[in-house]
Amino acid sequence: MTETPTLSPDAEGIARAAGLLCDGGLVAFPTETVYGLGGDARDDRAVARIFEAKGRPHFNPLIVHLPDLAAVERIALLDDRARAVAERFWPGPLTLVLPLRPDAGISPLVTAGLNSVAVRVPVHPVAQALLRDFGGPLAAPSANPSGRVSPTRAAHVLEGLAGRIAAVVDGGACAVGVESTILGLVDTPVLLRPGGVPVEALEALLGPIASGGDAAKPSSPGQLLSHYAPEAPVRLNVTAPEAGMLFVGFGPGAGQGAGGLSLSPLGDLVEAAAALFHLLRQADALAAGRVIGFAPVPETGLGRAINDRLRRAAAPRG
Ligand code: TXA
Ligand code: MG
Repeated sequence: MTETPTLSPDAEGIARAAGLLCDGGLVAFPTETVYGLGGDARDDRAVARIFEAKGRPHFNPLIVHLPDLAAVERIALLDDRARAVAERFWPGPLTLVLPLRPDAGISPLVTAGLNSVAVRVPVHPVAQALLRDFGGPLAAPSANPSGRVSPTRAAHVLEGLAGRIAAVVDGGACAVGVESTILGLVDTPVLLRPGGVPVEALEALLGPIASGGDAAKPSSPGQLLSHYAPEAPVRLNVTAPEAGMLFVGFGPGAGQGAGGLSLSPLGDLVEAAAALFHLLRQADALAAGRVIGFAPVPETGLGRAINDRLRRAAAPRG
């Protein structure tokens, strides 16, 4: 495999992508959060290829993508609480970790042999069309080499994975821009990763939610401390940029540094999340050995997911 074709998101492109997936190939596709690297979740060899293409440690389980709640019910066991969450937030940027059905038919490589499974119903029309045309469950981590910045455009996917995957479907830029929120519902609700659905919205339905996540013993690879790492060093909560620093602002008045970069000139968290990973790449390309400094971002709503990704980008490299 030396070439990775870009497919258009029309019926013909979707049909070609579904055909490649049926043959056990890997296809990157847009979701509302980030681009996913899809493979047939029932096919051990396809799933093994996902880990190989990403250079991802095998102990990290993958999210299974499905077109609707009925398809999820064939793979996972839902109680009334899980069904209420699903009906409120699906399709959308939420992943639920649920008990795995014994007869789910999912490759044990997807769940890393656990008896729970992460499931998600994306709202993106291209993801929906691909899932329906393919007609089965798709395992799909973010379509980037392990530990690097997640892709929010087809060009980002090709930068990291060209020649290693069968195709990418180009659906333009991702609207949400950070990965899905992961909520564990095997036992008491636990937040495994902040993401596109603010935890405040989940708590309005479920009551207080504990944060799970022990960086030393990650059950979610998003919990590995150094992650989303650009090449350049990253510093956070910069209020007064030093000379020579490449500054990325947030809000009015900020972001008038040398590069004039800003997560959101208006201080809008939705806009900032959508821009985050593209800006990390842009800043990295411009930095040329300089430190990238980020202005403070409020720790509410989508700001929690943004700050979580920025802390990982700034963490000491292992
Ligand atoms: O927005 C997203 O969620 C994107 C798009 C492509 O859908 N996908 C994504 O996948 O971020 P990935 O593989 O980068 O992250 C999957 C997360 C990991 O942190 C993994 O450990 C967690 O889901 N996970 C999967 N199965 C799990 C399980 N049984 N228990 C706990 N965590 C699990
Ligand atoms: Mg990822």
